[in-house]
Amino acid sequence: METRENGLRQGGKLKIGPVIREFSSSDDGVALTELLHRAYAVRAAAGLKFTATYQAPEHTLRRISKGRCFVVEDDGKIVGTLCLFFPESDSPVEFYRDPSTCHFGRYGVEPACKGRGIGRALHDHIVNHAAALGGTRMALDTAAPAADLVAMYGRWGYAEAGRFQRGQVNDESVIMARGIGARVG
Ligand SMILES: CC(C)(COP(=O)(O)OP(=O)(O)OC[C@H]1O[C@@H](n2cnc3c(N)ncnc32)[C@H](O)[C@@H]1OP(=O)(O)O)[C@@H](O)C(=O)NCCC(=O)NCCS
Repeated sequence: METRENGLRQGGKLKIGPVIREFSSSDDGVALTELLHRAYAVRAAAGLKFTATYQAPEHTLRRISKGRCFVVEDDGKIVGTLCLFFPESDSPVEFYRDPSTCHFGRYGVEPACKGRGIGRALHDHIVNHAAALGGTRMALDTAAPAADLVAMYGRWGYAEAGRFQRGQVNDESVIMARGIGARVG
């Protein structure tokens, strides 16, 4: 998948097809939130309480302002998103305070576009981005009961690194982590 920068550099004009770019202040936060709700609806239907299944647009914008939100745009529409976060000294999760560890979240793909490699391309993009900035470890957390996600991240090189409880209503979260540094993708 092209990044917008690569498309411009390679041809002087954007290639037709999906591009990865950063979410900007001129993008629509309500539409991004609705995309997250649609993407995560399958999790809500399974009884999982991911914040992205119900969060309000203000919450989305507040959270992504703490990191860098990347999106996949295809034919003028945002069809996937993932937010990269840098070490957060005030995080309640000790692992996320580690100065060499980045993490990601708010990770969703338009249901009609799932299974086409968009999610993996977004993931590899932010891993490369974090490594280029000097990060040496990538982490994430997911709902402990979501065995398919834990298995997917396991295939992508992540291993369980801890557990925590986010609030009283959410499921127990599994923290997973892997080293980064060599280019992936
Ligand atoms: C998780 C998600 C972002 C992945 O995006 P995607 O574009 O569908 O993913 P890809 O096409 O790149 O495939 C990623 C992996 O999912 C697997 N996968 C894709 N579609 C699948 C399906 N219908 N059933 C089972 N596995 C599937 C692929 O085999 C692939 O695994 P691999 O890389 O080990 O082969 C997306 O499915 C989604 O929005 N899920 C709902 C929200 C969510 O659970 N987010 C993560 C919270 S931690």
